[in-house]
Amino acid sequence: MEIFIDTAKIDEIRRWLPSGVLDGVTTNPSIMYKDGVADAEAEIKKIAALIGQRPLSVEVTTNDLKEMTAQAQAFAKWAPNIVVKIPVINEDGVPCLDVIAALEAKGIKVNATAALSFNQVVLTAKAGATYTSIFAGRVADEGNDPAVVIERSVDWLTRWKYKTKIIVGSIRSVIDVQSSALAGAHVITIPPQ
Ligand code: E4P
Repeated sequence: MEIFIDTAKIDEIRRWLPSGVLDGVTTNPSIMYKDGVADAEAEIKKIAALIGQRPLSVEVTTNDLKEMTAQAQAFAKWAPNIVVKIPVINEDGVPCLDVIAALEAKGIKVNATAALSFNQVVLTAKAGATYTSIFAGRVADEGNDPAVVIERSVDWLTRWKYKTKIIVGSIRSVIDVQSSALAGAHVITIPPQ
């Protein structure tokens, strides 16, 4: 199992790198805003260089599918270890599977976000996503058990030999880390606090 850090704070990433537990970094627009990032491109390039081969997820900021593709292509040029976060469905409720499939076909790695159900995991895996993020906290907010969604998803991906790895995000407490790990998460992305 891998551990990513869910932050844009370069000091936090620096603090955890020597520990040997850090396998990658995830960000999103609200994390960047909260962490006071003014120049996203400059900051992402700094983080990407700092973490070497490890993957760094950067999320698109538009609901328009064409703009999403263009942004993703631009982000991917910032550094070789960039993974582009594409929503499973945008804020207008439109599925973004075509964008995910097209980017992966071009060799751009996608982290499909934010999956809240097993069915969404199946669709993103079939579209070719390198990662699919299941948002544990939000699954629980909807009254469902994230451990069940994680376990079923990982079992299905293994059974049918899909390359997609499950990242569990929206971690809100230490017990979420434990239950996600025991449910078989390939990766857990954890806020530094
Ligand atoms: C993970 O990739 C996300 O950045 C993050 O965990 C989102 O969690 P939230 O539900 O706190 O927004």
